[in-house]
Amino acid sequence: MGSLDGKVAFITGAGSGIGRGVSERLAKEGATICIADMDLEGGERTADLVRQLGAKALVVKCNVASDQQLKEAADQCVKEFGRLDIAVANAGIARGGHILELSLKDWQDQLDVNLTGVFLTVQATARKMVECSNGGRITCIASLAAENTGSGIWAYSVTKAGVRMMVRGLAQELGEHGITVNAIGPGVIVTPLAAGIAGEDGGAIRSNLERRTPVGRAGQPSDIAGLVNYMSGPDGEFMTGSYVIMDGGLRDARGPVSEPSEEIVQESMRIMESNTQRREKMQSMLDDR
Ligand SMILES: NC(=O)c1ccc[n+]([C@@H]2O[C@H](COP(=O)([O-])OP(=O)(O)OC[C@H]3O[C@@H](n4cnc5c(N)ncnc54)[C@H](O)[C@@H]3O)[C@@H](O)[C@H]2O)c1
Repeated sequence: MGSLDGKVAFITGAGSGIGRGVSERLAKEGATICIADMDLEGGERTADLVRQLGAKALVVKCNVASDQQLKEAADQCVKEFGRLDIAVANAGIARGGHILELSLKDWQDQLDVNLTGVFLTVQATARKMVECSNGGRITCIASLAAENTGSGIWAYSVTKAGVRMMVRGLAQELGEHGITVNAIGPGVIVTPLAAGIAGEDGGAIRSNLERRTPVGRAGQPSDIAGLVNYMSGPDGEFMTGSYVIMDGGLRDARGPVSEPSEEIVQESMRIMESNTQRREKMQSMLDDR
């Protein structure tokens, strides 16, 4: 018996990174998984992993920046499985830049996905939860960047700080329907989105990060998935309106950041090249709303 047997979970951005890790973990606990991602290929890979664990999976193509696509995705989930108990508003993008250079489009896209996308995900899924009258659990993936910021990252921080505040109000409004709403602030987690700061396995950027992190390693999607599982399961019943940081202690790390060595410069250039290719592919999916 899993702690989530019989539950149906709707997870945005489940085609990669943290969303994929969350899908696998909730599937292991017995939940049926609805994978909502604008990237169908990634979504199908996650569905294969979920099915290998013996759980049911449905992939729906959905851009969280589109109200219509989110409503249709939530409809499809309930039509297929008859209910929707757990939602994870996880889809996100990172568009950094200096104030003198950041384009209005990058600013707007990031707001549309990271902030409006969370609002639309919660609205579409909470409406289904209320219709189904079984209560519900909603977790929104914010970031450590909701409280730590700096040059080049402040625009991303603004969207995540908005999510951190949003869940407090939503918890007040949805409590009467038996729905909890919480946020998680991950530190650096090894995923394609964080490639530039998490670095390559065994590389110089990663070893610098490990040296500065009190627990001595980078985060993995499975770390965040464990916390989502807690918030979505029986032990999380009394938790709502909370924002929980999970960063291995990095927030308060004061260790020296090394000067960029030739090795780090080379690694950063390799990562930047593959990031540029990924970003171009994702941008055309994002523009298709
Ligand atoms: N990786 C980290 O270090 C880290 C740290 C803090 C917070 N986060 C947050 O965690 C969440 C997941 O990030 P990740 O690191 O797994 O990234 P990722 O890039 O590996 O995965 C993101 C997934 O979201 C999907 N996606 C992006 N925009 C979408 C849209 N408009 N509609 C539907 N799907 C969309 C992508 O296709 C991809 O499958 C994000 O909200 C991110 O901001 C990540």
